[in-house]
Formats: sequence, C-alpha cells, structure tokens
Amino acid sequence: MVQDITLDKTACRGQTWPLSIAPMMDRTDRHYRYFMRQITRYTLLYTEMITTAALLHGDRDKLLGFSETEKPLALQLGGDDPAHLATCARLAEDWGYDEVNLNVGCPSDRVQHGHFGACLMAQPALVARCSRPCARPPHCQSP
Ligand SMILES: Cc1cc2nc3c(=O)[nH]c(=O)nc-3n(C[C@H](O)[C@H](O)[C@H](O)COP(=O)(O)O)c2cc1C
Repeated sequence: MVQDITLDKTACRGQTWPLSIAPMMDRTDRHYRYFMRQITRYTLLYTEMITTAALLHGDRDKLLGFSETEKPLALQLGGDDPAHLATCARLAEDWGYDEVNLNVGCPSDRVQHGHFGACLMAQPALVARCSRPCARPPHCQSP
C-alpha cells in the first residue's frame, strides 16, 4: 500500500525537507538540478562541492548561477579557512541560496590534499569555526 507522506510545504528557508539529493561532484550541476526539479518539488537540492578558492578567484556567475526553478537549493562549500568561508557564505546569500553546507565528508586524496572534506573531522574546533559562517545566512534566521 502506498502511504501518503505529509509534506511541510512551507516555502520557508531553514525548514526541513523530507528528502534531499546529495551533493555530487560532476553530477549535481545546474542542468542536473533543473532536470531533478521536474521530478520533485519537495526535495532540497545541492550543488556540487565548490571550493572557496574557486569562488574567490574564479568565475562566480558560472559557479553560482542557477535557475529559480531549482530552489530550494543548498550550496556546498569546500574549504578550511573561516574567513574565506565567511566571504563565500555571503556570496551564497547574495545569490539567493537557501542554505550553505560545509563539506566534511569527502575522503578523496585530492580533497584531503587541499585540507578540507573528511580530514577536517580530525579538527573539531576548526570545523566549528568554519561552520559558523556557513550556518543559516542572516536573512534565513528565525525572528
Ligand atoms: C559521483 C559522486 C560525487 C560525490 N560528490 C560529493 C561532493 O561533492 N560532496 C559531498 O559532500 N559528497 C559527495 N558525494 C557523496 C554523496 O553526497 C553521498 O553522501 C554519498 O553518495 C552517500 O549517499 P547515500 O548514503 O544516500 O548512498 C559524492 C558521491 C558520488 C557518488
């Protein structure tokens, strides 16, 4: 028997969504997300991981651009510098992302070489400092 799922349809940032599509490098680009949004409206979508270095020095329009159709949308950042992450979190807010997510799970050699992803878990105090600016952007906070 198929059961109804009660969905919280409040279009409010900071809500919990019943499902999300995890961030995946070389997969969850804007084309993939747009396609997924044709299938599901009540799912939080993630970008691919974008490094703070790429955002600070690269083509921001290309890296951050998305269609309103994709929302709710979370930006996943890769980095280990709280100040850089704070700048990138502000960019995410300016671009209209609903959430910022810090990658502390990717175990790949390339990512560890950059000192972010899973290896950050060995430094919980640094993770705390890094994740503070990634916590819900100011416009998303509850009154
Ligand atoms: C191709 C691929 C790319 C991924 N890239 C990322 C990434 O950029 N950031 C991240 O946090 N996790 C990444 N992951 C991990 C996924 O987000 C997810 O956590 C993982 O696939 C486990 O999901 P599951 O428990 O639903 O199977 C990637 C996984 C795959 C298969």
